Amino acid sequence: MYEIMPSMENRKNRTIYGRRQARPIKEAQKHLLETVFSTVKISPSNLPAAFPDEVIFEVGFGSGENLAHQAKKYPNALCIGCEPFINGIVSLLGKISAEDLSNIHIFDDDATLLLQALPEHCISKAFILFPDPWPKKRHHKRRVVSMESVLLIHGKMQKNGMLTIATDHPGYLEWIVEITKQEKFRSHFLPMNAIKDARPSEDEIPITRYEKKALENRPGTFLIFKAI
Ligand SMILES: C[S@@+](CC[C@H](N)C(=O)[O-])C[C@H]1O[C@@H](n2cnc3c(N)ncnc32)[C@H](O)[C@@H]1O
Repeated sequence: MYEIMPSMENRKNRTIYGRRQARPIKEAQKHLLETVFSTVKISPSNLPAAFPDEVIFEVGFGSGENLAHQAKKYPNALCIGCEPFINGIVSLLGKISAEDLSNIHIFDDDATLLLQALPEHCISKAFILFPDPWPKKRHHKRRVVSMESVLLIHGKMQKNGMLTIATDHPGYLEWIVEITKQEKFRSHFLPMNAIKDARPSEDEIPITRYEKKALENRPGTFLIFKAI
């Protein structure tokens, strides 16, 4: 049986603040967890045996729209997604099963833990799409985008690899701009677009569940950086 809240033993610096489960898991979804999940699940102590030239990494894939899209578009890439939210994981497992996707791996916990364990310079593309904004000031430290996290991602990225961060939240956008304009960041990443630029095409990045929600109020901003 799949364990929803794994043991906290052996976990270092685990920082997850959102929900791990919202809706109850239906029987068919339990079946996916018990069958497909075991074939795609990875962890810091159980990494893929080899990393191809193209490795696509997503922090907080939600329902997995982008990761499934990238996996289909780049069949030779290894797509690694991190998501502790169990309902999101079952959505992606459904896509993997329905579309027979064989190049996706899932880590069901804090992306930081997996990033720390990955070999250096393996990621060719990284995505952080519509992360939880944690609008209250006392919760800002929960935001997944921080100088520390982007520099950790950088250490695992290939030279010229692309990092895309998207948000629809004005306060989070300001926070991201504050981080990404600093010399410390700019000595690792070059900005490739401007805030006013259009979002990447849907062929590059599909509209995710959270972007769709955001579009009811305001469009998201996509910031793209190249690792140097
Ligand atoms: C607002 S949702 C956005 C989901 C998706 N990217 C989208 O655009 O629809 C943010 C997701 O990040 C996940 N998350 C939060 N902290 C995380 C962490 N430390 N590592 C990996 N995922 C995380 C949450 O569980 C949540 O599903």
